[in-house]
Amino acid sequence: MGTKRLYLLNGPNLNLLGKREPGTYGKQTLEDVAKLVKDTAWDHGYEVVAYQSNHEGDLVDWIQEADGEAAGIIINPAAYTHNSIAIRDAVSAVSLPVIEVHISNVHSRESFRHSSMIAPVCAGQVVGFGIDGYRLATLGMIQKIESEGRHDS
Ligand code: DQA
Repeated sequence: MGTKRLYLLNGPNLNLLGKREPGTYGKQTLEDVAKLVKDTAWDHGYEVVAYQSNHEGDLVDWIQEADGEAAGIIINPAAYTHNSIAIRDAVSAVSLPVIEVHISNVHSRESFRHSSMIAPVCAGQVVGFGIDGYRLATLGMIQKIESEGRHDS
């Protein structure tokens, strides 16, 4: 059981959203992403804690921290998606639903982006809808939490 709180975790280089390869990732910023998720969650009575880091260990720490603090985690592990056993093990270790988000359609890009180390241990994955994927993941996460009776307040 968790409170009506979600964790939003973004991995390396996503602090550069808006400036970074706008043809692939769009012109909206990480601040816009956080606002979109917060507004969507708030409409359903949930609050959001949003973190971004370029460092793998920070993401592991926040996944662990979310257990007990939140009812679910929405994560874009960015490049760590494709190689991080540490993030996968952290997701496996917590009892929370985790949804993986990618802004771009990773399956239509370079072959090294086609596989995710994390997705097999996630509740679901949202890929290729741009920034709106975070909103879709938030709605999916809340639906899942509510239908499974995972929140306690
Ligand atoms: C990404 C896709 C990853 O392959 C890439 O390394 C990123 C962003 C996305 O949101 O589309 O940094 O996770």
